[in-house]
Amino acid sequence: MSANNTQFFSKIGLIAATVGSAVGLGNIWRFPAEAQAGGGAAFLILYILCVVALGIPVMLAEFSLGRAGRTDAIGSFSAVSPKHRGWRYVGGLSVVTAFLISIFYMVVAGWTLEYLFESLTGGLYSGVSSASTSEAFASKMDTYISGGWRPMVFTVFMVLINLAILLGGVTKGIERLSNILMPLLFVILLAFCIVSLTLPKAGEGLVYFFHPDFSKVTPSVILSALGQAFFSLSLGMGILITYSSYYPPETRLVRTAGTVSFLSILVAVMMGIIIFPAVMSFGLADHGVAGTTLVFSTLPEVFVRLPLTGLWSSLFFLLLAIAALTSTVSIVEVVIRCVQDRLGMSRKAACYWVMIPVLVLSGICSVSMGMFNFLDFLTAEILLPVAAMGVCVFVGWIAPKSLLSNQLTNDGSIRSRVIGLCLFIIRYVAPGLIFLVLITPLL
Ligand code: PHE
Repeated sequence: MSANNTQFFSKIGLIAATVGSAVGLGNIWRFPAEAQAGGGAAFLILYILCVVALGIPVMLAEFSLGRAGRTDAIGSFSAVSPKHRGWRYVGGLSVVTAFLISIFYMVVAGWTLEYLFESLTGGLYSGVSSASTSEAFASKMDTYISGGWRPMVFTVFMVLINLAILLGGVTKGIERLSNILMPLLFVILLAFCIVSLTLPKAGEGLVYFFHPDFSKVTPSVILSALGQAFFSLSLGMGILITYSSYYPPETRLVRTAGTVSFLSILVAVMMGIIIFPAVMSFGLADHGVAGTTLVFSTLPEVFVRLPLTGLWSSLFFLLLAIAALTSTVSIVEVVIRCVQDRLGMSRKAACYWVMIPVLVLSGICSVSMGMFNFLDFLTAEILLPVAAMGVCVFVGWIAPKSLLSNQLTNDGSIRSRVIGLCLFIIRYVAPGLIFLVLITPLL
């Protein structure tokens, strides 16, 4: 283990932590809904293209910045290019974005815990049967999600779990957690794939998912594939800058970016393989597989029709809680590292100084849908794209030319054939497309 607990200990650990951040509710519940709206495999193809052609280069820009800077998201900008001090505000924007996202993501993470609890205790299925209509589950969802003190209790609980892990630091907290939870996440996903494939209409579901319907591809579907790629890789949030500052000098960044992206795509594909056969088999496809309803209302309707309802339901919400937890720790870490490095605080003090406001604000957010929706809109539609564009312009145009090449080749000790292509994408293609994403709502 590194002496000061500020460097990931093993290669597996750093990949587990980075994948843990990338694989979140974005892959699990947002992807199936977007795929349904965007022509099944047609959307999948677009999404993969966006990840490979744009996501990976931008991820490499964030990795380079973080590992060269070896400090928080703000300090990395000044460390890499001390002459251009104004650019640290882009880092500042990422930190603010991370703080705001952590507030409402903590609320959703709290819902996953609540549903796990209700699955384990049987509360979710009491008074409903396989003959129950979707209204029964929709009304449960109402009680659980907008029911006064209940979501608040679970949100607060989620914040406290995050605090306990983050107090452990990088290796003993984040890395250890990811090493345990990420393999578990994949095992659960695999179990669900197998179950789903044995359902009566599995074939129909797979055809629905894997048959590309290009007639559904509109410019707005292309932009949402791009948005989905960026969100699911955790770009523009300062997370990858912060995590890569904990990467040792010998980490191969291109390989790491490839592995993280591959696993993130894999989870999205597995979710498609799970969701579509399940909703088809029970005639629930017309209920829509849209985010919140899919996860908290349609899927319980699937589970109630399966033998061992409680087991499947508990496992599924455990899966969601794991995905949410490994993402929330990564986003809060951005802010904690910043407070630690900017204000010279100890790890412990920084954890409390960050987590107390997160606790209060996410507690309020858990009972205020208006605040929740506003934060979601502000971060996803405005702050994230602006911060991601800022990183691209900085790494592509402002930082020394050698930054990317030194980082991708580990200072010349390994070869990399993608530097030129990456630089081209970071300079021209990515900022241009992100700009389009930003202005589309205004058109
Ligand atoms: N990639 C994450 C996801 O899909 C994005 C994220 C990370 C969001 C951390 C919030 C916190 O959910």
